[in-house]
Amino acid sequence: MSFDLSVIPNKNIVLAVTGGIAAYKSAILVRRLKDVGFNVRVVMTQGAQAFITPLTFQALSGNPVHTELLNPEAEAGMGHIELARWADLLLVAPASCNTLAKFAAGLADDLLSTLYLATKSPVWVAPAMNQQMWAAKATQRNLNTLVQDGVHVIMPDAGSQACGDVGLGRMPEPEDLARQVTEYFHKAQRAIAEKFGMLAGKHVVVTAGPTREAMDPVRYISNHSTGKMGFALAAACYAAGAKVTLIAGPVSLDTPNGVRRMNVSSAVQMLDISMQMLDEGCDIFIATAAVADYRVAEVAEHKIKKAGDELNVSLIKNPDIVATIAQQQKRPFMVGFAAETRNVEEYAAGKLVAKKLDMIACNDVSRADIGFASDENAMIVFFAEQYQMQKRDLEKASKQEIAQQLVEAIHDALHHEIEPV
Ligand code: C5P
Repeated sequence: MSFDLSVIPNKNIVLAVTGGIAAYKSAILVRRLKDVGFNVRVVMTQGAQAFITPLTFQALSGNPVHTELLNPEAEAGMGHIELARWADLLLVAPASCNTLAKFAAGLADDLLSTLYLATKSPVWVAPAMNQQMWAAKATQRNLNTLVQDGVHVIMPDAGSQACGDVGLGRMPEPEDLARQVTEYFHKAQRAIAEKFGMLAGKHVVVTAGPTREAMDPVRYISNHSTGKMGFALAAACYAAGAKVTLIAGPVSLDTPNGVRRMNVSSAVQMLDISMQMLDEGCDIFIATAAVADYRVAEVAEHKIKKAGDELNVSLIKNPDIVATIAQQQKRPFMVGFAAETRNVEEYAAGKLVAKKLDMIACNDVSRADIGFASDENAMIVFFAEQYQMQKRDLEKASKQEIAQQLVEAIHDALHHEIEPV
């Protein structure tokens, strides 16, 4: 599945399985939901148990399966009211004709129908049945009632059916159902982040990765930057409610969910796109890119041929992207990075002033356990003097956690009373 798995928080799904041949697909659905990180508890009707055993669902979900309403033992574990409260979503898949009718009529004669009435969570039903039963007036009437009651109906697919008929009534594939559920939670989460997130309403531009400076059509000068820190920051800013544009040099990383990515190669291209972003309106500019300091003065039109024992290449200075953006009249909040091998704090503090940044995060790349290709980092953050904020030590942690702490630092600085200079 191509959607981002990392942003589903601890969400609980009650998957109710009712009597229909599509029940076998629900076993796979449990797997797919667990893959995304959902907690899953399964409820089965009597009918469902004729098709597949509770043990299968218990093994796949890692939780006891709920089958009865009036079983003192089961109720002592997690009673039906508790289960109704636990659910962030009640997903009925497959939903039989009978279950739809019971929901529409408001019956409460078994665990699932009772749960339906007792839960405040959204209810989704994925009807699966013979095409004639789907088309029956009573079924369509019940579905209408359910839609009016706020139930979300996942339309069945058309195709050949287990009974030999061809038509509407097949339950969608488990991957498709899991994707729909995941997207629903992503959207809900995004809506909250856009309203209440630490960077809600902000457009953040992040530069990341190395740049590649061509020598000729086949060779270039570059560095070992992997772009991991920048990509983690882009993801963290998005999770904090920002609109995020990621200007990426050549790296082999997937674009974080929800982030707009613009691929560049050279420093000059990176500056070009950065300036465009400024015109578009940028509130926060985060420069994590390891920009090549120099580029080849004259890029050869054709491949340079081997000749002689020495090859002299003349290099010229590349523009300093972050410093250039910081000099603009409508400058965003500027965040720089400093990777040093010695005098880390001193050099970083110097760059903060020299490049007119608001904040700088520095790390010691001479340490083998953090930095460039590593999945972990440790940083010290300095703020420009006018913020009158203490430096922050971000202890060794995953780049995701460091990114989260950097987002907090940016948020805190943005909300800090700035001393007039
Ligand atoms: O001067 P130095 O390369 O150490 O500064 C590092 C910081 O400046 C980083 O934030 C980096 O992304 C940014 N930078 C830049 N353009 C350059 C060189 C560095 O934006 N040409």
